[in-house]
Amino acid sequence: MDIPWVSIGRIADFEGKVVELRGWLANKRSSGKVAFLIIRDGSGFIQGTAFVGDFFTKDQLDEIKRIPIESSLVIQGKVRREERAPGGYELEINSLQLVFPSEEYPIQKMEHSVDYLMERRHLWLRSKKQNALLRIRNVVMMSIHEFLQSEGFILLDSPILTPAACEGTSTLFELQYFDIGKAYLSQSGQLYMEAGATAFGKVYCLAPTFRAEKSKTRRHLTEFWMLEPEVAYYDWQDNMVLQENLVSFIVNQALKKCQNEFEILERDTAPLQKIQPPFPRISYTEAIDILKKKGAPAQWGDDFGGDEETMISEGFDRPVFIHHYPAHIKAFYMQPDPENPTMVLNDDLIAPEGYGEIIGGSERIHDLALLEKRLEEHHLPREAFEWYLDIRRYGTVPHSGFGLGIERTVAWIAGVKHIREAIPFPRQIYRIYP
Ligand code: 4AD
Ligand code: MG
Repeated sequence: MDIPWVSIGRIADFEGKVVELRGWLANKRSSGKVAFLIIRDGSGFIQGTAFVGDFFTKDQLDEIKRIPIESSLVIQGKVRREERAPGGYELEINSLQLVFPSEEYPIQKMEHSVDYLMERRHLWLRSKKQNALLRIRNVVMMSIHEFLQSEGFILLDSPILTPAACEGTSTLFELQYFDIGKAYLSQSGQLYMEAGATAFGKVYCLAPTFRAEKSKTRRHLTEFWMLEPEVAYYDWQDNMVLQENLVSFIVNQALKKCQNEFEILERDTAPLQKIQPPFPRISYTEAIDILKKKGAPAQWGDDFGGDEETMISEGFDRPVFIHHYPAHIKAFYMQPDPENPTMVLNDDLIAPEGYGEIIGGSERIHDLALLEKRLEEHHLPREAFEWYLDIRRYGTVPHSGFGLGIERTVAWIAGVKHIREAIPFPRQIYRIYP
């Protein structure tokens, strides 16, 4: 009879049956004639028991007890319901094959510093918590596609090598592009999505973006993933409705699919249950008033840092939109408010619980002359933007879009403090290894 190779994540379907697991020894302990082996295969963890008796002699059991942690193993045994076992099932091992013994594993039970663990990120990913966190990221990514595809959006991939800046020239990663000249790693796919919106109506890209950020905060990476939808004929208010519906969908999918992961991470999901549209909307000017009332030294015209965002968000149990920022602290492409052109038709979405800005969005300038003027004011090289100006020459329309930072969103949903753990291999100002 063939013994089926099954994954631990599906073990409940095989209660009472003999199965084969292929994985690694995550942990072990023993007492006398019994060895308890914690096996992981990437889909989950399960306790296997081996004892002296029908299947193993005393010598064989002694050998099993000596198998080093993280050795690769193929085991066979009977699946048994066991209330007390984590996951609710246990495996009574009847055969065990050591595939390859591990060298002494450098990540042990004792506490390690984050630096030590990041240096070994390729191994740290195997741990229960990191595994749970990146499974939540997987669900976030997949829900984004699910939601936008069902809303009629087309996935349009943006280039990574670009001829010009999108989000200011101070954070550009520059490189020499053959004989043509300087090129830059993309800070945002937005400009290309604007072209895409005139070709497809509703488009999005989901791609890595790069910023040579000098700031060493828990919210900044130099390489991060961004979702950027763009829609023709949407104004800034339509844009916010899309954002609140998308964010609510993502959170709901995570609640539905990641209960086990939230438990592993000890994430209290009560605050996430409240994430339903509509989200509160306040203007930048109201946000300044909130800060002043709380005694912060905020002046109209200042940009917000993480601390200000946290203070503003404290009054709300859902993400809060801040709209109508002063034009001079925002990007060149944002549409001015026709009633007060010192302000723009933009929004930042601030997550609750101190996670700060997860989305930046706006209506875009659709008027050719105004956009030409802005390029000049921002000292941006016109030649590199001719194609972008074309969008305003040939059937221009009002349009809007936004960028959602994947790692900040995952960190918030999973409830981890620092976004460096919300991406498999983080890139920071002081880290490019492994
Ligand atoms: O607000 P930002 O800079 O907006 C844009 O790039 C627009 N072009 C997007 C668009 O409208 N299509 O960035 C958008 C989001 C931020 O709200 C934040 O979540 C994330 O990207 N982000 C970062 N995440 C991690 N590390 C960094 N250094 C980040 N910079 C921005
Ligand atoms: Mg922003």
